[in-house]
Amino acid sequence: MVTGSGKDDHAGKPLDIQGGGQSAGVPASGEVEGNAVSTLGNPGVKHWQAGYIGRAGLGDRANVFFAAVEMTRMPMVVTDPNQPDNPIVFTNGAFLDLTGYEEKDVLGRNCRFLQGPDTDCATIAEVRHAVAEQRAVAVDVLNYKADGEPFWNALFIGPIFDHEGKLLYFFASQMDISERRGMQEANLQAQKMEAIGQSSAGMAHDFNNLLQVINGNLELALLTSGASPKAAEPIRRAQRATMQAGKLTQQLLSFARKQRLEQKDINLNSLVVDFSDMLVRTLGDKVELRLDLKPGLPPCTLDTTYLEMALLNVVINARDAMPDGGVVTVGTALTSQQRRSAAAPASCRRAITCRSA
Ligand SMILES: Cc1cc2nc3c(=O)[nH]c(=O)nc-3n(C[C@H](O)[C@H](O)[C@H](O)COP(=O)(O)O)c2cc1C
Repeated sequence: MVTGSGKDDHAGKPLDIQGGGQSAGVPASGEVEGNAVSTLGNPGVKHWQAGYIGRAGLGDRANVFFAAVEMTRMPMVVTDPNQPDNPIVFTNGAFLDLTGYEEKDVLGRNCRFLQGPDTDCATIAEVRHAVAEQRAVAVDVLNYKADGEPFWNALFIGPIFDHEGKLLYFFASQMDISERRGMQEANLQAQKMEAIGQSSAGMAHDFNNLLQVINGNLELALLTSGASPKAAEPIRRAQRATMQAGKLTQQLLSFARKQRLEQKDINLNSLVVDFSDMLVRTLGDKVELRLDLKPGLPPCTLDTTYLEMALLNVVINARDAMPDGGVVTVGTALTSQQRRSAAAPASCRRAITCRSA
C-alpha cells in the first residue's frame, strides 16, 4: 500500500511554512498517497498531505479563506477525531451539492454514511488504516448520494495537527469522477470484446479449414462409393451438414472480424432486428427472444461490431441464468444518466448505453 505523509514521516522533507509560522504543511512532493486517480492529473507536488496549525477552532469565518472554501466547487469536509467516531464538524456547500444532503443531516456523523452495498471493503480498510495511522490517503471509492444514486468519489484525506503534533482534525476533499471511471470501464470492456472477437475469428478460421478437409474427403467418398444410392445418401447428408456448418463459421467470422473501432451514426432498432437471427440461434430452443423497440429513436453514434458483441454477451449471460428456459426481452429506449442509475438495481435488467448522435 502506498502511504502518504503523517505526523512522523515527513522527516527530511522541508515544511512549507505559511504566515510566518501560523501554519505549515508537508508538501506532497510528487508522492502518490493511495490508489486514486489524481484529480490534478499528476501526483501533486505543492499541495499539503498533512498540515500544522497554530490555532484550532472552526469559529473564525470572517477571513478570505473561509469564503474561498465556501465558494470552491471542490467538495470538502473537516472531521474531529477527538470526538467519538470522528464526526464531520464542517462541510462546504460543494459537498452538500455533490451528495444532495442538507448540512443538518451530515454534521455530527461519520462520513461512512456515504458508503453502500457495492462500496469496496478493501478500499475502506485502506482508509481506516490511514486514519488510524494519522496519515494522508487518496482512494477512488464508490459512494451514494442522498437519493441513493451511486457515484465514484476521488477521496483525499489528510491530517491536521497543532504545532506540538497533536492531531486536531482530518480534512478531506471529494470529487465525482463517475464519468471518467465510466469511460475507463467502457475502454476495458471494448478491449476485452476485441480480444474475444480475435480469438473467435481465429477459431472460426481453423474450424473452416477442418470443414474443408471433411468436405474434400466426403467428395472422395462419394466418388468411390459407386452408384449405390444406399451408400451415397448418408454422404450427401453429411455434405449438407458441412455446408451448413461452413455458413455458420462465415457468419462467426464476419461477426468477429478484426477491426478498429469505427463509429458511425446508425439506427439502433434496425441493428437489433438484423442481429436478432444470431441472438435467436445463441439463445437456443428453451429461451424465447422478444423485441421491445421504441420507435423514432434518434441515430446513435457507435461501432456496430462492438454493440453486437456487447448485446451477445448480455444475451449469453441471460441464457445461462435461465437453464430451465424463459424469455429474454431486448428493448431500446431513450434514457438519461439519472434514469439509468435508478433502473440499475433491478437485478434482471442489464443496460447497454449508446450516445445519441
Ligand atoms: C475527513 C474524512 C473524510 C471522509 N470522507 C469519506 C467519504 O467521502 N466517503 C467515504 O466513503 N468515506 C469517507 N471517510 C472514511 C470514513 O469516515 C471511515 O474512516 C471509513 O469508513 C473507515 O472506517 P470504518 O471502518 O469505521 O467505517 C472519510 C474519513 C475522514 C476522516
